Amino acid sequence: MMQESHVPFGMPRPGALPLDPAAPESVSRNGVLVPGATDPAPAIPEGINVEAEARESGVFDVIDDLDRELVGLDPVKTRIREVAALLVVDMARRRFGLEAERPNLHMCFTGSPGTGKTTVAMRMATVLHRLGYLAKGHLVAVTRDELVGQYIGHTAPKTREVLKRAMGGVLFIDEAYYLHRQENERDYGQEAIEILLQVMENQRNDIVVILAGYRDRMDQFFSSNPGMGSRIAHHIDFPDYSLDELVAIARIMLDGQRYAFSNDAEPAFRELMLRRMTQPRFANARSVRNALERARLRQANRLVSGGRSLTRDDLMRIEAEDIYKSRWFTEGPESRPSEERVVPAV
Ligand SMILES: Nc1ncnc2c1ncn2[C@@H]1O[C@H](COP(=O)(O)OP(=O)(O)OP(=O)(O)O)[C@@H](O)[C@H]1O
Ligand SMILES: [Mg+2]
Repeated sequence: MMQESHVPFGMPRPGALPLDPAAPESVSRNGVLVPGATDPAPAIPEGINVEAEARESGVFDVIDDLDRELVGLDPVKTRIREVAALLVVDMARRRFGLEAERPNLHMCFTGSPGTGKTTVAMRMATVLHRLGYLAKGHLVAVTRDELVGQYIGHTAPKTREVLKRAMGGVLFIDEAYYLHRQENERDYGQEAIEILLQVMENQRNDIVVILAGYRDRMDQFFSSNPGMGSRIAHHIDFPDYSLDELVAIARIMLDGQRYAFSNDAEPAFRELMLRRMTQPRFANARSVRNALERARLRQANRLVSGGRSLTRDDLMRIEAEDIYKSRWFTEGPESRPSEERVVPAV
């Protein structure tokens, strides 16, 4: 087991928490753990206002932003708050000498494409960093290809290289079930899984692993790899978005880019989403983003060919025709654009 790194909770600056597990630690007069401090007499604080201290660490700012900027996802938001609260309480307990094992923070995010898993994982990394549980709080997102080699002897170095990059942050493994190939016992994926299992167990203080993918396939993966399932403490399910939520997401995305729907454009977009939702390869919020990208292209084309001087408002406004010219309205299903899987621009 690696040495447990005590976290100097109560230090206000986000990201400034020194996290060197090798640094000698003691407790200063006000009861705050300070790595390397020399005061030999640990003072136990009388009482800790955990809420005030958590506010000071900025962790709830990240969560409040997440609440505000991400539409829906109520169960997800609740779980993130609970995890943050647990960590805050865990640190307060330490200061009273109530030692408990560092909580297991490995997670599994399940849900359909475009439901916000990668986005929430990035926020989670920031939360863990602000609380001092991760030294850096960056996120390294990979899939099977980045972990598993094609030839004998290639997998271990590849997996270790990825783990090295992710140290101090979150390793996010998308579609993690592809690591396991039922039909092929000799598959190199198993080698990557073994290394991950070791690191998830032995270096829990240095890295948090988040697996992501479809719910049913992830369940299958855990039943063939019980070791992996048992190392994951938090299983969080991301529901599909409702039509109202998709439209609300569109509004937020447009606003972020200084665009807005005209009065007629919003119902048009709603109609577009209603059609799109039932089609194959629908990817929730990512389909919203892609549809808006295309609407912007059409708006630009309309403006450029309009031959008149443009106001600020003209440049900002998406009109209904920018939506209705979508191939989803004008052409048969076979020629409709496919939803490309893209690295999310968050
Ligand atoms: N609830 C939401 N509110 C606003 N924007 C969202 C929401 N959920 C996702 N998005 C946006 O939609 C896009 C896709 O989200 P993200 O990449 O996080 O989904 P994902 O679940 O990781 O998808 P995949 O499984 O395909 O990797 C991102 O641009 C993200 O910012
Ligand atoms: Mg993703």
